[in-house]
Amino acid sequence: MIIKHLTLANFRNHQETEVEFETGVNLFQGQNGQGKTNLVEAVHYLATLGSHRTAGYIPLIKADSEQAIVRAKVTHGGRDVLLDLELSKSAKNRVVINKSPSSRLRDILGYVQTVIFAPEDLDIVKKDPGNRRAFIDELVVQLAPRFAGIYSDYERVLKQRNALLKSARNNKVSGSSLSTLDAWDDQLLTLGTQIVVARGELLNRLEPEVLTSYQQIAAAKNEPAIKMKSSLLASGVPSYLDEEEIEDLEFLTDFAPDFVRAKFEERLKQLRPKELERGLTLVGPQRDDLVLLLNQMPAKNYASHGESWSYALALKLAARQLIRQDSNFGDPILILDDVFAELDVSRRNRLASMVLDNEQVLITAAVAEDVPLELNATLFHVEHGKVSRVQK
Ligand SMILES: Nc1ncnc2c1ncn2[C@@H]1O[C@H](COP(=O)(O)OP(=O)(O)OP(=O)(O)O)[C@@H](O)[C@H]1O
Ligand SMILES: [Mg+2]
Repeated sequence: MIIKHLTLANFRNHQETEVEFETGVNLFQGQNGQGKTNLVEAVHYLATLGSHRTAGYIPLIKADSEQAIVRAKVTHGGRDVLLDLELSKSAKNRVVINKSPSSRLRDILGYVQTVIFAPEDLDIVKKDPGNRRAFIDELVVQLAPRFAGIYSDYERVLKQRNALLKSARNNKVSGSSLSTLDAWDDQLLTLGTQIVVARGELLNRLEPEVLTSYQQIAAAKNEPAIKMKSSLLASGVPSYLDEEEIEDLEFLTDFAPDFVRAKFEERLKQLRPKELERGLTLVGPQRDDLVLLLNQMPAKNYASHGESWSYALALKLAARQLIRQDSNFGDPILILDDVFAELDVSRRNRLASMVLDNEQVLITAAVAEDVPLELNATLFHVEHGKVSRVQK
């Protein structure tokens, strides 16, 4: 898949930007704070309706503007698709696909596929469970866009259920609110099971790819492995892994839907009194975590800075492999935001050789020389939210 053309209007610091991309590597060079990341963020937003830097969309709209527009022409297998996204501070956001308006924003998912790697991705390895859930969930949706609906339905059910638990706690428990709770439980189980299963099946496919990518990028025999720490398991996995020996932990390894649902249901029953006491749902995919192991030790607590970088990069390159395998659209657009400056020369060269065969790659860098010459990049200069092509 290739992005051919991008128009931005009032997107972050880009008031009016037009870019004609090339196949192969496109390098966006410019000093700090000029709008390089903003540009690739726009491309990634079209693919995921999410940003690697912010949770909401308001920061994406230029500070003094009411509305931002992202318009792109993407092509795969000789077929062009025109995508139009309007983000507004006060009106409803809109999506237009091939000139026909769509009723739901998420209809845009699936038309562009991107894998972005940025310094923030170190958080997947080093920080909170939410970062790891976001990583796996974004990939679930990229591989199967219908899951966007399942996640948003689950969020809604969870919110309603939490509200009910909270009011049951405040007004003491009454029989009628408990029977409403049973109805919510059924939806929570149905949707939540689909999420846990999708994550688990994806992990099983991802793990061997992460191993290959890690060993290639780090040129080391270290062994990454990924496990699911789940609130569905009754053994009461401690919330902080570093307090326990890893061998004592039980991970969720069986992702057969019936099994997962049964575990989920059992745990919900078990925790009902505690949930009523706390006024909060205590079990489900929103409380699960991925444990990223390196040589059987949790990378979160043990990996060095360089190892954590290699791990994060390996996760993203593995994601690229899976999208490649599943997609009818060819390779996802690979985005490397500010990555080369962080790597030593040998890792730079190894990364370059791993991305060279990707149909299209977008790279940002403050210093063009940090990017290996073998990538044969088309060079663009970015300054004050303006993009100009320099040379091939
Ligand atoms: N909503 C917005 N409205 C106006 N300007 C914005 C908005 N959001 C971000 N900016 C501005 O965009 C600039 C940052 O752009 P960006 O993050 O793309 O920089 P960069 O070129 O990637 O720099 P670096 O090399 O430091 O990563 C900042 O000056 C910031 O103030
Ligand atoms: Mg940047």
